[in-house]
Amino acid sequence: MKPLNIGMIGYGFMGRTHSNGYRQANRFFDLEYHPVLKAVCARSADKAQAFADQQGYESIETDWRQLIARDDIDAIDVCTPNNLHKEIAIAAAQAGKMVLCEKPLAMNVAEGVEMCEAIEKAGVPNMVWYNYRRVPAVALAKQLIDEGRLGKIFHYRANFLQDWTINADVPQGGAATWRLDAEAAGSGVTGDLLAHCIDTALWLNGGIQDVSAMTETFVKERVHAETGAKQAVTIDDACMFHCHFDNGSLGIFESTRYARGHKAMYTLEVNGENASLRWDLHDLHRLEYFDHSDDSIVRGWRSVHVSDGDQPYMGNWWVPGLQIGYEHTFIHQVADFLKSLESGEPVQPNFRAALETQKVCDAVLASAKERCWKDV
Ligand SMILES: NC(=O)c1ccc[n+]([C@@H]2O[C@H](COP(=O)([O-])OP(=O)(O)OC[C@H]3O[C@@H](n4cnc5c(N)ncnc54)[C@H](O)[C@@H]3O)[C@@H](O)[C@H]2O)c1
Repeated sequence: MKPLNIGMIGYGFMGRTHSNGYRQANRFFDLEYHPVLKAVCARSADKAQAFADQQGYESIETDWRQLIARDDIDAIDVCTPNNLHKEIAIAAAQAGKMVLCEKPLAMNVAEGVEMCEAIEKAGVPNMVWYNYRRVPAVALAKQLIDEGRLGKIFHYRANFLQDWTINADVPQGGAATWRLDAEAAGSGVTGDLLAHCIDTALWLNGGIQDVSAMTETFVKERVHAETGAKQAVTIDDACMFHCHFDNGSLGIFESTRYARGHKAMYTLEVNGENASLRWDLHDLHRLEYFDHSDDSIVRGWRSVHVSDGDQPYMGNWWVPGLQIGYEHTFIHQVADFLKSLESGEPVQPNFRAALETQKVCDAVLASAKERCWKDV
């Protein structure tokens, strides 16, 4: 097997999911390349070392530029807050490293364009971690749509609901709450949550032409975790938009961190002339499917338990009837990335594809701000 030396930047939530993906991929998929956990980078040496010891990294760095400069690193994995994606990804590409970047690709389209240009000029393999494409039930939805089973598609709707910022005492900024600080995150729920819904929608249902959006910031001021000062909140706490897809269908999307009772409720539904499907992250191994051609006396929504060997990715797991979960989406994404190195076929979504999501996010934010329709 060919080693692929990984340099990971950031040891938070995504640092953990990706590290697990690198360790597991070869145990379940036949792959020519195998990831080697070469180094992890974080600003605190103690924390980086503790993470390295726990996750199995061989070494640590405290400056990401030092990590990128190392000859023994093949691929840089960007698991930092959004405001660092551009600088790190461009530097890594210029150093000839492969780049695996967390989503959203960038803070905005202008940054994303620069990143695409740098990565394409360097000609290095690249990928953005829109992992929900690798949920077997979502991949099955893609298969059913591509096979034409739904027929002409009329409607696409998606929600991503959370409730963790309702308390006005939650601070903004800093290690735990950078998502509430526009300087670090770029936007609120639009780039954080709707970006996932948009990426899946573009994958399942094609391009989006134009959008009409509204956003709201319910808590207007929060203490900044680093300065202690009360500052205006400039992210979107909630966002809703509707849109036209290139295929003539209508889309409606909603995301908020103020839906009491919901922790990470990502749902999507697609309605076609012949069939409909829907999926829910809280029950991620099931795909609900309605086929109008069924015999009318038994016609109804069926709940497909996506665990059989002939369903996407499942042939690599247990036996039919036994399900997998969230962490496996990252294992699948690592496996697909490694396979793309064998085949030379770019893995999706790459930077260029993730830029399409960024364009929709920017159009959504501009539409809400200017209170008018925006072309993507
Ligand atoms: N694909 C997904 O489903 C998904 C889920 C969560 C987060 N994300 C994305 O992943 C990225 C990271 O999010 P997270 O939830 O892991 O955040 P996190 O706060 O848990 O971790 C961020 C990490 O970045 C490190 N960091 C910050 N500045 C740094 C610097 N200058 N040098 C080195 N390390 C630095 C922090 O120390 C921390 O380890 C974000 O872009 C986020 O949008 C994606």
